[in-house]
Amino acid sequence: MMTPQPTAAAHRNARTLAGAEGCDAVVGLQWGDEGKGKVVDLIAPKYDAVVRFNGGANAGHSVVVKGERYALHLIPSGILSPTARAIIASGVVVDPEVVLKEIDGLTARGVDCSRLVISERAHVVMPYHKVEDELREKLLAHVRGGASGGAGAGGIGTTGRGIGPCYADKAQRSTGVRMGDLARPGVLKEKVELACELKNAVIAALGPKVGLGPEKMWTPQAVLDWAAPLAQRLGPRVQDTMYLLNDMIDAGKRVLFEGANAAMLDVDHGTHPYVTSSSTTSLGIPSGSGVPCARLGRVMGVMKAYSTRVGNGPLPTEQVNAIGQRIRERGREYGTTTGRPRRVGWLDLVAVRYSAMLCGATSLCVMLLDVLEGIDELNVCVAYDVGGERTERLPSSIEDLERAVPVYERLAGFSGAVGSARTIADLPAPARAYVDLIQERVGVPVGLVSVGPDREQTILV
Ligand code: IMP
Repeated sequence: MMTPQPTAAAHRNARTLAGAEGCDAVVGLQWGDEGKGKVVDLIAPKYDAVVRFNGGANAGHSVVVKGERYALHLIPSGILSPTARAIIASGVVVDPEVVLKEIDGLTARGVDCSRLVISERAHVVMPYHKVEDELREKLLAHVRGGASGGAGAGGIGTTGRGIGPCYADKAQRSTGVRMGDLARPGVLKEKVELACELKNAVIAALGPKVGLGPEKMWTPQAVLDWAAPLAQRLGPRVQDTMYLLNDMIDAGKRVLFEGANAAMLDVDHGTHPYVTSSSTTSLGIPSGSGVPCARLGRVMGVMKAYSTRVGNGPLPTEQVNAIGQRIRERGREYGTTTGRPRRVGWLDLVAVRYSAMLCGATSLCVMLLDVLEGIDELNVCVAYDVGGERTERLPSSIEDLERAVPVYERLAGFSGAVGSARTIADLPAPARAYVDLIQERVGVPVGLVSVGPDREQTILV
């Protein structure tokens, strides 16, 4: 049966409507783990679809609903809202095993997953991508003199989920496998055969340097055997989400884009090379979903009241001391995806201002304010000193960022009544001053303040 086509007039009306409201985004303004999952969960009921447009199972969105914690890596957090469609769009790299595990886990907890669809253009993270991720991390650590190699020992510190190699194959084209290819045996076989030949040659040549041997190699047949049952189960969910999304917007439906990872990890605009491999800001939405930028309305930029980073790379305000440890424990700052302890630092407004500009943030969501409770004095980085020069702009070179010394503004600490505050007026005066400083220095209004993990612990400004 043919889908009815909207008229030209309907197109125009829908465009105006969508550009103004109803086609919005939630994106991270720091180094990830800002609490985007909670924001999406709060607002998802207002939307007809929640869409992932970038990244893969490297992301970890944790949401607490009625005291139950859900950790999602690939399925948009909007699946927890009872009616929204959950869409994994073309810019995502899909690990089929992870998606199926999430579907099974959610279904077992009573969540209806029939609303999940996956783009046929999304690329598939193949088992050899994870091996390649490991090999590259170990080689990088090896050339840098790391003792044992691997994450944290001189590599980028990736999540090991095969993200970079999968995006690289997408750019290489000949070995990039798309979700739609899983249902095309001839195409799949050709791509997998070439991929295995190339990747196994690299393992054979370089693997022994870092202790990786033939046991890490995949034969084409083993890959095809791995793919077949996954393709069969996911097949009915795979479709052209570009038309689906644009048709929804034309019909006046509301769509929310859920960013994964965060602006400082953006492949083009982040702290390269210590970044992920996708376009993590709202700039990634058009290419990662097929929805043109003119249709985007509000962009909610999510930030923590302090800074964290997982993996390697500069974090100018890092606190490797008792303060950092205290924030880590109170904020449960351990990776949702890898369990790694997150590096912790004072709030860096140079970074947040940069990201807010890049994302075109129309409002800020300040998360985890309660975690700072009980610290006598708070430092907020408002500028950097780079080689004796003060700047409020983020340096594009990693070397400059590495030697940037934060210039702090000191604020009084706050305690008591933060977690129970439900309006801005309920917050202690120093906590309000902290939020005001953010708003003033970033130049974007604060629309939401989160004071605890539960839905109720939220202040809408
Ligand atoms: P990859 O995305 O696994 O290649 O990892 C590249 C870098 O991005 C590493 O430093 C990761 O720790 C970091 N990263 C990727 N995704 C996230 C995320 O969702 N939150 C925080 N860090 C992330």
